[in-house]
Parts: sequence; structure tokens; C-alpha cells
Amino acid sequence: MKHITVIGAGTMGNGIAHVFAQNGFATTIVDISDTALDKALATIAKNLDRQVAKGSITEEVKAATLNNLTKSTSIADGVKNADLVVEAATENTELKLKIFQELDAHAPAEAILASNTSSISITKIAAVTKRPDKVIGMHFMNPVPVMKLVEVINGYATAASVTETIITLSKQLGKVPCVANDYPGFVANRILMPMINEAIISLHEGVAGVEEIDTIMKLGMAHPMGPLQLADFIGLDVCLSILQVLYDGFGNPKYAPCPLLVNMVTAGKKGVKTDEGFYVYTAGSKELVVSPSFKK
Ligand code: CAA
Repeated sequence: MKHITVIGAGTMGNGIAHVFAQNGFATTIVDISDTALDKALATIAKNLDRQVAKGSITEEVKAATLNNLTKSTSIADGVKNADLVVEAATENTELKLKIFQELDAHAPAEAILASNTSSISITKIAAVTKRPDKVIGMHFMNPVPVMKLVEVINGYATAASVTETIITLSKQLGKVPCVANDYPGFVANRILMPMINEAIISLHEGVAGVEEIDTIMKLGMAHPMGPLQLADFIGLDVCLSILQVLYDGFGNPKYAPCPLLVNMVTAGKKGVKTDEGFYVYTAGSKELVVSPSFKK
């Protein structure tokens, strides 16, 4: 593995490109928007500065990381020399299927095609390619440079040798890979999203307020963030779409998204990315302020 291509320059895409480049891989980020690519490279530089300031990397490592990064607005051009492609585009099934058809057409025949999907079926994605044995899930957690886990998801047809390669590679990135099979939500989101949904249902039913729910789960369970703050951090639209995948995939009403979550997403209150969800966010401030909609 020498050349990695990351598809998508959003939060996950730039984090994934950051860790590959920092660990010595020639890394290309592909996005249709040149502005998004420049923003991603600026974010990576800012996060590297933070690591230098903390003393976790040197200025030399920062320079080498930036030197390992290139950008492209063309999938065909960006993947032509790739040993591994990691797709981190928007969580939309039709879009991912279209991207994988393109990756299959333009990436070298022996390249592994991975998806960072948080819940869409790897088997379904693999089925639109002519190399389903080389398609796998490589699910990183946000913030990627900080979080240790890579959830490795075997599709129905993924070859054992491909899984082994991705396990070895994840370790080379300093991550801890854990293998799961391809069922809705895999493991991470099958367990996380019902907890977040239950927190929203508790708020919706008036069991407790935003701060109480988050404080109980933060201090009571030693979680770094309460479930409502975490939902804002992940994106309420992403939480809703994952719950919808669980609900559709299992046909079990226990996964039905809380109507409050549906309303908030419909109203455009998607969490940190829109500056308001359960909390309101002000650039440059770390203070957690509950949204006026939830103030009693
Ligand atoms: N790049 C590099 N370093 C970063 C970073 C980034 N983007 N973001 C944070 N850091 C570093 C900081 O520099 C700091 O480093 P030190 O420990 O060396 O000081 C460390 O991370 C902690 O950061 P902060 O002090 O700024 O803030 P914090 O202590 O409040 O931690 C947090 C922030 C790491 C995000 C923490 O709140 C946390 O772990 N939250 C939960 C995150 C989580 O659950 N993520 C999974 C979401 S689910 C998902 O991603 C998958 C899905 O499918 C939905």
C-alpha cells in the first residue's frame, strides 16, 4: 500500500486523509468542489498545528504530512494510481452506488475499494462493482485523528485476504481495527443510535431537560459527551438517516426515529454544522449553551 485516495473532502474525508498522510502514505483527496478541497487542506493544516502545539508531533512531521497530500476534482484522475480508495462522501445510498461504479471503472484492477459508510450495506455497494471481493467497510470515528477505532465491515463477498490487509493497514495508522459483519448499522451505530434516539425521546416526553440528560450520561456513564451533544456533533441529519437504515433494515419499531428529531432536521437545526441543534454554537466559543427551544 503506497497510494491512498480519499473520496470526499468533508469532516470525515479530511480526517481520514490526515491520518494516512501523517503515517507516510501518498494521499489524494477527491471532491467535485475545489473550494471544499482547499477548505479540507486548511483544516488538516490547522489540526496539525494543534498537534504540534500539544507536542504530539514535530514541525517536520507536519511538513511531511502536508507534502504527502494532493487534491483532485476528478475521480478518474484521482484514483488511477490508487492501491486503496476510501470513500467518505455524503451518506446517501444512490450517490455511493454511483461513486463505486466510477471507482470500479477507473481504479487499478487490484485496488481495494473501501467505504467509510456509517450504516449503508457494504454488500449492496459491492454488488454494483465487478470486484465485490475487494470491497470492504472501513468506518472511522470523528474526530478521526483522535479516535482509535476503525470498524472493519466484511460484505457478503469480501475476501479474507482483503480483510487482513485492512486490519494490518489500520494498525499502521495507529488505530485499533475491529471486524463486524454486514448487517444494518454494523455494531457501532446499531448500539449508539438507539441510545441517542432514546435520549431524544426522553427529552420529547419531558422526562428531563437537555442539560440533565447529558449530565446524567456524561457523569453517570463516563461518556466524554452526553448523547444530545454527541448527536449535535455527529449531525442530526446523519443520526436520522442512520436510524432510518436501522428501522428499514430490521422492520422493528424500536428503531423508529423520534418525531422531535425528524422535526429538528426538517427545520434545518442539524447540530454543530448549522450552529444549532440541542445547543447553540458560536464560532470560537467552547461554552455549551442550550438552544432557546429547550429552555423551560
Ligand atoms: N484533530 C487533531 N486533534 C484533535 C482534533 C482534531 N480534529 N480534535 C480534538 N483533538 C485533540 C485535541 O488536541 C486534544 O489533544 P490532547 O488530548 O493531546 O490534549 C484532544 O483531542 C481532546 O480535545 P479537546 O481538549 O479540544 O476537547 P475534549 O477533551 O472535549 O475532547 C473530543 C474532544 C475528542 C471530541 C471528545 O469530546 C470526545 O471523545 N467526544 C466523543 C467523540 C465520539 O464519540 N466520536 C464518535 C462519534 S460517532 C462517529 O464518528 C461514527 C458515526 O458513524 C456516526
